[in-house]
Amino acid sequence: MSDESFISIQSLSKHFGEVRAVDDVSFDIRRGEFFALLGPSGCGKTTLLRMLAGFEIPTKGEMFIDGQPISNIPPHERPVNMVFQSYAIFPHLTVRQNIAFGLRKDRLSKAEMIRMVDEALEMIALPGYGERGADELSGGQRQRVALARSLIKKPKVLLLDEPLGALDKKLREQMQLELRDLQREVGITFVFVTHDQEEALTMSDRIAVMRAGEALEIDEPAVLYERPKTPFCADFLGTMNFFGGKVSAIGGGEATIQTEDMGQIVSRGPNMDFRSGDDVIVAIRPENVEISIDKPVDASAVLGRVRASAYLGDRAHVYVNVEGRSDPVLSAMQNLGGAASRIGRGEHDVWLTWSEESAVILPPV
Ligand SMILES: Nc1ncnc2c1ncn2[C@@H]1O[C@H](COP(=O)(O)OP(=O)(O)O)[C@@H](O)[C@H]1O
Ligand SMILES: [Mg+2]
Repeated sequence: MSDESFISIQSLSKHFGEVRAVDDVSFDIRRGEFFALLGPSGCGKTTLLRMLAGFEIPTKGEMFIDGQPISNIPPHERPVNMVFQSYAIFPHLTVRQNIAFGLRKDRLSKAEMIRMVDEALEMIALPGYGERGADELSGGQRQRVALARSLIKKPKVLLLDEPLGALDKKLREQMQLELRDLQREVGITFVFVTHDQEEALTMSDRIAVMRAGEALEIDEPAVLYERPKTPFCADFLGTMNFFGGKVSAIGGGEATIQTEDMGQIVSRGPNMDFRSGDDVIVAIRPENVEISIDKPVDASAVLGRVRASAYLGDRAHVYVNVEGRSDPVLSAMQNLGGAASRIGRGEHDVWLTWSEESAVILPPV
């Protein structure tokens, strides 16, 4: 067994009556990886995690951890631990008692127990908090205590089901970075469930994007964001402009697409498994659509008219109408030297350009 497949999920399904909560999913997770399961509510993330934990019995398939099939191992004997969104800590116990709770069956000496809890308090940046009541902690601190309690047993795998979901935005962003650092420090493999794409992009080594029980795409954050292979993934991970069309020429890492309403678009890069005549969708991120008032040299520039814009301070979202097209094209422009307020204001003609590398070809929905 290689580190490439520290956790191996093979043809795994879980059906609840007619509902295929998880539907024939196969993928591997590497040792020490921060791996996210990302997808909209109801796509099967929790069910998949609960099968790894042993709280749910698969309808079909098998899971391996460190080479061992785990289906027949009861939950408490699996080398995993789970952290939930609602911090499962005991409000009537102290922080120390809460963290030590995970060790209660381990027959450790008192001194050993104290040493381990002290270490754990250090790890979650709460040294000196041991004797506090758990009910005296903030939300972020409670979630750290829950983490410490899960990690003190040194599981091979930590399963986290939307652990930051109950925190407000600012605290959540801070905890994302802390949790990421903590994972690097302890080196334990994390399988992290979230429906928040930014959270997954920020924290993960790799992400599995799930839809309706399937693992649609698995890759590193930047690859999924910049070179998605499916319209669903392109759309779920941020905002995207989509242009329908037909491939008119392809070869040498470059394709020309005759679009329905944006003229010819040239796309350059990988994902070129298409043929001339194929119906495709061209996807371009808003931050890759440049707006200019003067006509650019680029012959493929498209003329449009500013319809509306949202001024966001550091940047602006500008919606541009293109003749013959119903959806406006979205450009997210940086507000360098006040450019966004100049271009975004009022109704006027603009030119849209983008690089050939930023145009990604996708199969139709
Ligand atoms: N115990 C259950 N009984 C019946 N249906 C369930 C059960 N648990 C989950 N489901 C269904 O399985 C699907 C996936 O649920 P879940 O794994 O909780 O999704 P997620 O965590 O991605 O929001 C949903 O349609 C949900 O209603
Ligand atoms: Mg869930």
